Amino acid sequence: MRVATLAPYVDVYAADIEKVLISSEEIQAKLAEMGTRITDDYAGCELLLVGVLKGAFVVMADLARYIGLPLEFDFMAVSSYGAATKTSGVVRILKDLDHDLEGQDVLLVEDIVDSGLTLKYLLKNLAARKPKSLEVAALLRKEGIQKVPLDLRYVGFDIPDEFVVGYGLDYAERYRNLPYVATLHPGVYGGG
Ligand code: IMP
Ligand code: MG
Repeated sequence: MRVATLAPYVDVYAADIEKVLISSEEIQAKLAEMGTRITDDYAGCELLLVGVLKGAFVVMADLARYIGLPLEFDFMAVSSYGAATKTSGVVRILKDLDHDLEGQDVLLVEDIVDSGLTLKYLLKNLAARKPKSLEVAALLRKEGIQKVPLDLRYVGFDIPDEFVVGYGLDYAERYRNLPYVATLHPGVYGGG
């Protein structure tokens, strides 16, 4: 009988990985801590978690299991116009929420805040729907490069301004299933 191992995918991508920035254990410990804070902060409330597809699906799945509250889930898909690697700040909603946000406690779950432009747009858009509260939980934030001031209630890790993959984050739609956050060898980008 074949027994599933915990991390077969690690081997599949091993040759492409340059450096593991945040291990699976560190991510889980941080999410557990974040989940406990959220549970305390929203005690007595029902919370709606809103995930931004696709990247946030992994964070959302794990974070939710550290939150001891009645939870509902919804997802949004957005795409930014402009060059492929940089966000322009102009965001198109590809899939909107199923929930009406009016009067709800809403926690927006993000994988990474880079320029912050996507998030700024989303917060403005969601705030207009009159939720009772609206806060953000982001696993990663790139240090010092946000183009707009953002008030992020829960942030997992501040990381240097490098392109990272894993734990929901992709390069060309790959690597999302890595259990850690890592950088890729430059050769993977076709650079050398
Ligand atoms: P922002 O609008 O510049 O903050 O970009 C946010 C989105 O860009 C994230 O939700 C990711 O989908 C993507 N992104 C930004 N930085 C990275 C990265 O280092 N790796 C993978 N995706 C990234
Ligand atoms: Mg992406």
